[in-house]
Amino acid sequence: MSLSVLFVCLGNICRSPLAEAALRQECASTGLNIIIDSAGTGDWHVGQPPDVRAQAVAAKNGVDISHLRGRQVSASDFHDFDHMIALDNQNLNDLKAMKPASGAVRISLLFDHIEGRAGEDVADPYYGEDADFEQTWAEVTEAARNLRKLLEAA
Ligand code: 4NP
Repeated sequence: MSLSVLFVCLGNICRSPLAEAALRQECASTGLNIIIDSAGTGDWHVGQPPDVRAQAVAAKNGVDISHLRGRQVSASDFHDFDHMIALDNQNLNDLKAMKPASGAVRISLLFDHIEGRAGEDVADPYYGEDADFEQTWAEVTEAARNLRKLLEAA
């Protein structure tokens, strides 16, 4: 059975779709077959495509994310996924609070997968500018490279 990873941010239109895209691209480069998805803790953008600035930075880096649609984290995600990876500490704490006792999912913070940056937040670029989305892409790409190695070894 394939390993599965769910990235979680607040709105599921900026950071977690980019993390999903970065890991998908990274895994495609080595032929690693895993299930990758993203969701938000909030419900404001359910059914909506990613922010146009997130779409633009992904496209610039070779990944089309225009077909993605926002969805909210659900109770079944805690059973369906092997890993939930939060983009910031607020999302991390929300996921830990939502996790049912029976859930076997491993919950971590994205930056815990980058040496020397454990515990840090991926800053929310929603109220930022294009440069903030470039920074998000750089961060999720670095984490994706490390995650791919971790998942390959699993
Ligand atoms: P994301 O960014 O969590 O990276 O998708 C946000 C998008 C929308 C909102 C907050 C964060 N919002 O409050 O609508």
